[in-house]
Amino acid sequence: MENLSGIKQDDLYRAAQCLKSGNLVAFPTETVYGLGADATNPESVSRIYSVKGRPANHPLIIHASSLKLMEKWARDIPEFAFKLAKAFWPGPMTLVLPRSILAKDFITGSQETVGFRIPGNKHALNLLENFESIGGLGVAAPSANRFGAVSPTSALDVQGDIGNYLTEKDMILDGGDCEIGIESTIIDCTKSVPLILRPGAINPKNISTATGLESKYKTKYKGRGSIRVSGMLKNHYAPNAQIILNGSPALGDGFIALHEISTPVGAIRLSSPRNSTEFAKILYRSFRLGDLMHLNRIIVIPPIEDELSIAILDRLEKASYKDKFDRN
Ligand code: TXA
Ligand code: MG
Repeated sequence: MENLSGIKQDDLYRAAQCLKSGNLVAFPTETVYGLGADATNPESVSRIYSVKGRPANHPLIIHASSLKLMEKWARDIPEFAFKLAKAFWPGPMTLVLPRSILAKDFITGSQETVGFRIPGNKHALNLLENFESIGGLGVAAPSANRFGAVSPTSALDVQGDIGNYLTEKDMILDGGDCEIGIESTIIDCTKSVPLILRPGAINPKNISTATGLESKYKTKYKGRGSIRVSGMLKNHYAPNAQIILNGSPALGDGFIALHEISTPVGAIRLSSPRNSTEFAKILYRSFRLGDLMHLNRIIVIPPIEDELSIAILDRLEKASYKDKFDRN
């Protein structure tokens, strides 16, 4: 497997061909790194599941560079979805839409909907355009981590997480650190109003401004409802260390909080973001640092200042749900 840092145009073309020949390419997006496969190739897509160790009935997001392709993968697209697309793509938003016949069961986990996103990262977009120029229709890409673990926000994270499961023919594109650091906002567009399945950088206010409609959060932790969103399992985004929210650290515990909060005596400061944007960006990096230091516990004081804090809290609650002895 080839790990390319300092991505050049030629690398992106080779990566597109790599996808087209049925291999996997891990690539940067503005949210987190994705593990991509040709979304029309069942064998390639099934490799995503084995590399991630992810149950086969979890749906994948299709990544492509244009609205034209959204209309190939989805049907009966409501007006408000086009408004969202126009306002926030390319960007950190995934729309869940009724699927077309192109979106087979192996992509949707046999659901009647398909997730679609046009990412904003320039390397990701360029890769997708190259892929489409040689006949590709879409790249299925979950976050490039093992199932249930923290999403990768750098190529090194990807290498550490799944490098051993990739082959010589697969590639990892190194586009540096992800700008946003947490996964895209997922919006279900199959109801009369936008329903937020996973909070992210695009927030309810943004959604109402773009659509003129009031959006709603899907009730948290409904568990195994009719829509399967793996990010909704409670123990997602979890590092090895136990994550404790708003606790008081004991000697040797990791500590993550906004920079104006001072480090309690004996705690090991893992990061000091200045605001929620920085908090999101370094959250998974800080979890990984705690694991690297073999910390047993990480105390996190979540930000509460704004809309992005809701997305951060969502990931923190999932990470803190189970203790580390109860995870698989
Ligand atoms: O920011 C992101 O969305 C990243 C980057 C790589 O694009 N991708 C990502 O993919 O987070 P993944 O597979 O790790 O998480 C996507 C979530 C999954 O929990 C999946 O269940 C949900 O999206 N999803 C995909 N298609 C869906 C559908 N048709 N209906 C409901 N949920 C869906
Ligand atoms: Mg994921």
